[in-house]
Amino acid sequence: MGMVKIFLQDTQATLQLGLLIGQHLHPGTVILLEGDLGAGKTTLVQGLGQGLGIKDSIVSPTFTLINEYTEGRIPLYHLDLYRLEAKEVDGLNLYIYWEGIEVTPGIVAIEWSERMPYQPDSYWLVNLTYGAVGGRQVEINTFNCEIPQEIAGRL
Ligand SMILES: Nc1ncnc2c1ncn2[C@@H]1O[C@H](COP(=O)(O)OP(=O)(O)OP(=O)(O)O)[C@@H](O)[C@H]1O
Ligand SMILES: [Mg+2]
Repeated sequence: MGMVKIFLQDTQATLQLGLLIGQHLHPGTVILLEGDLGAGKTTLVQGLGQGLGIKDSIVSPTFTLINEYTEGRIPLYHLDLYRLEAKEVDGLNLYIYWEGIEVTPGIVAIEWSERMPYQPDSYWLVNLTYGAVGGRQVEINTFNCEIPQEIAGRL
């Protein structure tokens, strides 16, 4: 279990945080992203993709629901549940991604995770909020897992 709060002064800072996470995160990690419209969830995942070494541009899966990127160090499964209700999310069997059932274990990043009726056994909860004078505040809480030292030491 761990908790960190960081101020991200601009888009670049959000990308940088994602990059650091993407460089060091272990396969099977689930990142639940919460925060208002435009809070920076997709931006963080874009940085994460860079950190994994993904060259494809990462676009919001608001309509496709899930985008899979397999060209990086480990796969990235990027989901956006904005358009769904809890009932519908339930039918998606999302656990196949974090349990690595018929998919290569990778990082699972889920925007609008508030829509999930259940959580994985262990996960990161990343909450982005608007700062009073621009920028964003991010709070990271981890449940049943630790932030790898390579990341924690540089935050
Ligand atoms: N730390 C920051 N400070 C200021 N602007 C930022 C910061 N991080 C990201 N942004 C900007 O906020 C805008 C919205 O970002 P983004 O699309 O990532 O939000 P989102 O949370 O994914 O939104 P949605 O809820 O629509 O999925 C973008 O223009 C992005 O560049
Ligand atoms: Mg988004």
